[in-house]
Amino acid sequence: MTARLWGGRFRSGPSPELTALSRSTEVDWRLAPQDIMQTSAHVGVLQMAGLLSAADAERITEVLAEMSREVAAGTLIPAADDEDVHTVIERTLIERVGDLGARIRAGRSRNDQVATDLRLYCLAATPVLAQQVCDLADALLEQAERTADWPAPGYTHLQRAQPVTLGHELAKHVHALLRDLDRLVDWRTRCAVSPLGAGAIAGSPFALDPQGTAEQLGFSTAFANSIDAVGDRDFVAELLFVCALLGVHLSRLGEEITLWCASEFAVAQLADEWSTGSSIMPQKKNPDIAELARGRSARLIGDLTTVLVLLKALPFGYNRDLQEDKPPLFDALDTLALTLPALTGCVRTLTFNAERLRTMAPAGHALATEVADELARAGIPFAIAHEITGRLVAAADERGVALGELTDEQCRAISPHLTPTVMAGVDLATALARRTVPGGTAPARVREQVIAARSRVADRRVQWRGQWSPQWGGQSPGQRP
Ligand code: ARG
Repeated sequence: MTARLWGGRFRSGPSPELTALSRSTEVDWRLAPQDIMQTSAHVGVLQMAGLLSAADAERITEVLAEMSREVAAGTLIPAADDEDVHTVIERTLIERVGDLGARIRAGRSRNDQVATDLRLYCLAATPVLAQQVCDLADALLEQAERTADWPAPGYTHLQRAQPVTLGHELAKHVHALLRDLDRLVDWRTRCAVSPLGAGAIAGSPFALDPQGTAEQLGFSTAFANSIDAVGDRDFVAELLFVCALLGVHLSRLGEEITLWCASEFAVAQLADEWSTGSSIMPQKKNPDIAELARGRSARLIGDLTTVLVLLKALPFGYNRDLQEDKPPLFDALDTLALTLPALTGCVRTLTFNAERLRTMAPAGHALATEVADELARAGIPFAIAHEITGRLVAAADERGVALGELTDEQCRAISPHLTPTVMAGVDLATALARRTVPGGTAPARVREQVIAARSRVADRRVQWRGQWSPQWGGQSPGQRP
């Protein structure tokens, strides 16, 4: 018997070229655990509809369980002429239980099947992703806590702007990651809808209780429109957007690590274990993890773009084009599964040069705003204070000195308002300590921020741990079958 799930109306089999183009087992075999799971659920549907006896249903379920173990062990794998994962599962079942296995296709199509498998896969893969994001957030928070009161230069336009604390710089990345985690939670509610029972397009005549089947599989509800159910891939596009934006966040972090470690900045040092050398320049120590995080974000954006272009103008119902949703989806999940732990290790083991950061923090007249603020405190309108401070900066530049190095007379010559009292308030530690606005850079605020962020990360961990799918069997999304 042919392995193909179709063929009755054809006088000859497909050409080798078509077979080669059509085959998807290299990509979709990782859906085998999900395909077996939903096949078991479908057996229950057929039993309820009277198409399978209780004894037959039990026999099929036993064999499916055995197949599931073999898939996990890697002993059940696709044959060369299997078209897709669904073919392998049905063919194997028929090989083991004979005609009984041929009964399971009633009321089910690969169209609702593949949509169900893919949703189940996403639901099982994302808790792993979420935990990895939490790990990175915690590594950043650990560093932020340690450096909550370390003065560091703050930049806008990549020009020295105002001093900040290093802990504040590091913690900022955590807020982006927390938003990624929030988006993932939000995505989950829309992904957890079962398409099983939609059949090819019109709905199965045997699916008496799609809601029950949905719950049995761990979905929160069943489809509301069978045409939408087989053609909808919003859950793929949305997850890819979450991945792409997360990728952009990792890329921005990677960019900063790369800059921090460059000799021109030299404010951070990579641990040996988390950096690489050059094949020709013996002195090199390269931030490859940070660069790969930056580089791989391109793939993640590409993966999202692929799916959006795939869906654009696609007629409703199932179209074979949809087979192309899986490579970008799996690529994005695999990419993140590799990138996140590496970047976490890189961040956790970074060492920062406190002395150099402290020296850099006030340099480049980064305390100029403090002068203007002091003048404003003394009652000068800020726009005028800004103007006076600008002249002070020009005078310091002319003499090649820092603002605080100008003499009392030189200050007074610029403006009588630039008194020794005003100038005494212009100090690095004071500048930092004054930024006590909630969310500001003052060390006390940074410590509070770290505590609050840590508890939000911990909440997310607990929430996602509850989403661990038992059917997942501990496989990581990056693990290729
Ligand atoms: N392999 C296909 C996919 O990934 C599922 C099979 C649907 N094929 C079909 N002729 N209806 O989308």
